[in-house]
Amino acid sequence: LVVNVSKDSTRKIPESLFGVFFEEINHAGAGGLWAELVSNRGFEAGGHHSPSIIDPWSIIGSDSLIKVSTEASSCFKTNPVALRMEVACDNDCPVGGVGIYNPGYWGMNIEKGKTYNLVLYIRSMGSVNVSVSLTDSIGMQTLATTNIIKTDVSNWTKIETKLEAKESNTNARLQLKTDKKGVIWFDQVSLMPTDTYKGHGFRNDLFKMVADLKPGFIRFPGGCFVEGEYLRNAFRWKETIGAWEERPGHFGDVWFYWTDDGLGHYEFFQLAEDLGAAPIWVFNNGISHQESVDPSVITPFVQEALDGIEFARGDANSTWGSIRAAMGHPAPFDLKYVAIGNEDCGKPYYRENYLKFYAAIRKAYPDIQMISNCDGSSKQLDHPADMYDFHIYSDARTVFSMANTFDRTSRVGPKAFVSEYAVTGNDAGLGSLLASLAEAGFLIGLEKNSDIVEMASYAPLFVNTNDKRWKPDAIVFDSSQSYGTPSYWMQHFFKYSNGATILNSTLMTNSSSSLEASAIVFQDPVDKKNYLRVKVVNFGSSTVNLKIVVVGLDPNLLDTSASKTVLSSTDVRDENSFANPQKIIPVTTMLEKAGDNIDVVLLPHSLTCFDVLT
Ligand code: AHR
Repeated sequence: LVVNVSKDSTRKIPESLFGVFFEEINHAGAGGLWAELVSNRGFEAGGHHSPSIIDPWSIIGSDSLIKVSTEASSCFKTNPVALRMEVACDNDCPVGGVGIYNPGYWGMNIEKGKTYNLVLYIRSMGSVNVSVSLTDSIGMQTLATTNIIKTDVSNWTKIETKLEAKESNTNARLQLKTDKKGVIWFDQVSLMPTDTYKGHGFRNDLFKMVADLKPGFIRFPGGCFVEGEYLRNAFRWKETIGAWEERPGHFGDVWFYWTDDGLGHYEFFQLAEDLGAAPIWVFNNGISHQESVDPSVITPFVQEALDGIEFARGDANSTWGSIRAAMGHPAPFDLKYVAIGNEDCGKPYYRENYLKFYAAIRKAYPDIQMISNCDGSSKQLDHPADMYDFHIYSDARTVFSMANTFDRTSRVGPKAFVSEYAVTGNDAGLGSLLASLAEAGFLIGLEKNSDIVEMASYAPLFVNTNDKRWKPDAIVFDSSQSYGTPSYWMQHFFKYSNGATILNSTLMTNSSSSLEASAIVFQDPVDKKNYLRVKVVNFGSSTVNLKIVVVGLDPNLLDTSASKTVLSSTDVRDENSFANPQKIIPVTTMLEKAGDNIDVVLLPHSLTCFDVLT
């Protein structure tokens, strides 16, 4: 491999080439990154158009002692359903009383010594005495407890209290119980750990896993989640802002689960800001999987998009910016990119409506970069755009061979946003080494073509192991633990590429059909020193001896020692798991005798990067 460092063979990589794509899929947000522990906190799951269901709430006590039903009697107009609990026993109640419990999203993770913030709304004819507790999954062991004792709750009353855990349990539940005869209504029951990231509601361990990738951007909130199977179930941002109690929530009918929308439009921008990543908002453009709005009536959708941008960017006196300010963020969010729909290019009216969105946004926000869903990699788009989406899900061989896809793309016109890529199917399983190597080869190709590829993100980012709607994914988690698949760790090899300098590199080897390589110079954000990084994927099953020759640089400027980081395993089908979360992770060792000539050995089926101090 010859790496050329001379000035005319270098180019700066975009600051935001590699980022992440967050979609509300696989319970990535609800029951995932969003730390709310109560599932279906408003008893609204099922929505306004169908009979409400209280799942996963359940009853504690026999049917003869307690009956629950839902009623449209809430104090929240946008969120009308409340739970009515009728208790038939009094002094004769079983010990501890009867009531309801919520197991959260496949069990709540309660940690000894931590504090949990409980909010609920309650109403009853007379006084109430409700014991609130966190217990193990069967209600036997109490982890934390408190009592709500009120003499008059004839009007809806907000209760806010803290629960301090005396014991830990990863499969806990929240119980609300009483031993007094009567009727109690509950609504909007929320339990949040107090130690979320900066108090912003993000689960710390999952936030850290994303932050560790140093994403240059975050695309959100979907995906198909943005479109909906039907428009009535699409993500409508206006219904996800303001006080959480007043958010109606919605049933995402593509990935088939209810979200309370605690993780809403505001929280997505906050997430981007906390990650130091540029927000990329994908908005619904009047197209679902089953419907396309006629251009003659698209104006409300255009206005909704403009309002959504104003929410993020408008000053605190603007109509929508003032709501953002009231929610705690007076300064505008740094929104510079929007995508007009998701995977809608071939659908009826896409282009006609796209032009209306494009013109309105361009007029109101001339600097905002707009992303079309139509692929411009092989031919010029027939409509104006700043970028175009490119999605690729395929087998490993195909994805690896696509390293050269953008070599042939015209250098004129909008740039590519590879907003979803992954190896899928048998080659990938739940996240194999094989998949990650193919993806690494593809990303090396994107790096080399980063004059016309502006951004790229793996998809999907998260999966709650209890709800695998899509596989594979980058980060696997349950209520208390998480691990990265090899595709997650592969992305770590690219995290210093944003804003780095790409060098010309040429592979001169007869195994080149199974090798992909690139070379960059980057500044380490911690020690502030410059490093030459050479990444090589060996997609083949043989060991490769490679000589890296650096030309165009004074050899004295290269350190004589280097580090080598390898992602590999004994079997290319190997995966990480909760039982063995670190089976395939990058392993770094020091290499002696570096300089401008480095002899290296590439393991079969491996991704290796060599870092040399320059
Ligand atoms: O990443 C999973 C899904 O794949 C996305 O929702 C969609 O955009 C694509 O089809």
